[in-house]
Amino acid sequence: MKQGRLRMAVLAFTLACVGEEDPSLLAPPDGAVFAKGPVRFIARAEANAAIQLDGKPLKYESPAEGVATANLELEPGAHEIVFGKEKARFFVGAGSPAEMKPFRFHPPMASCDTCHAIKNGVWAWKRASLVTLCGQCHEKEKFVAKHTHEPGIIADCQICHNPHGSTAESHLKKTKEVACKQCHG
Ligand code: HEC
Ligand code: HEC
Ligand code: HEC
Ligand code: HEC
Repeated sequence: MKQGRLRMAVLAFTLACVGEEDPSLLAPPDGAVFAKGPVRFIARAEANAAIQLDGKPLKYESPAEGVATANLELEPGAHEIVFGKEKARFFVGAGSPAEMKPFRFHPPMASCDTCHAIKNGVWAWKRASLVTLCGQCHEKEKFVAKHTHEPGIIADCQICHNPHGSTAESHLKKTKEVACKQCHG
């Protein structure tokens, strides 16, 4: 019963998040520098979506409905992915523009199924909640010290963190100030 409720809460949050401003391009992040390849591409996109890599159609896999992903082997230098109005510019190897930042890899990304599972053809979570999912590797004590909260109150990790890796310290989507102000106005 409790598990079911948690799953509903995660589902409700996920649905609420698929709003207009929710990005479709999830990885690589715009402005990232990769020391070497391959570069993991992830998007919310249907199997026939027109996505461009350096001006040519990007070939990708669709492991589940609405999920597009590929492991891109790229030449050193500047690259660009375009999907509708969204764009991600990134760089492989040395000599990147000064405004770009090194990509910070999140270790569980070695395999999507550390966090995701395909349930009835739908991209879902491996665990009932992100607290239990992320909590497999991230200790609760450290969590409380860093967040001044029990994980349950701020269970939707992705409102602040980018789970697929980013260029920001602690993979933060917003500054610490702004992140906490989402509730502490
Ligand atoms: C560390 C855990 C973790 C790993 C590993 C991971 N993801 Fe995710 N993924 C998440 C979280 C958390 C979200 C929700 C993020 C958000 O909404 O910003 C998410 C969201 C997504 C979404 C959007 C789903 C939707 O319904 O909107 C896609 C697509 C996706 N991931 C694909 C992948 C692929 C492909 C891989 C492997 C290459 C992967 N993920 C690996 C945690 C992970
Ligand atoms: C309201 C925003 C917010 C939410 C939600 C949130 N975090 Fe964080 N998290 C932060 C901030 C801010 C930091 C950086 C803290 C610092 O450096 O002082 C951080 C840091 C971390 C770190 C790095 C700690 C370290 O030792 O450097 C981990 C791991 C982490 N969070 C995991 C999680 C997990 C797992 C969840 C979901 C259960 C979560 N966070 C939910 C804001 C958030
Ligand atoms: C399979 C183990 C595993 C899982 C599951 C996992 N992580 Fe991590 N995470 C790591 C490791 C390893 C690191 C790098 C070492 C560290 O900083 O603790 C890390 C680092 C982080 C950092 C700090 C990155 C930085 O640059 O300082 C954050 C934030 C984070 N994880 C959030 C999450 C969130 C949110 C989830 C769930 C969606 C999650 N992790 C799930 C293993 C995991
Ligand atoms: C999802 C909403 C939410 C987010 C995001 C959030 N908080 Fe809170 N916070 C609460 C609520 C509700 C309380 C009061 C209940 C409690 O104390 O547990 C609270 C209480 C606190 C308190 C206790 C003192 C006080 O003001 O009442 C501190 C300190 C705090 N939060 C810090 C943070 C920090 C730091 C972050 C960012 C990492 C953060 N909060 C993000 C909801 C949130």
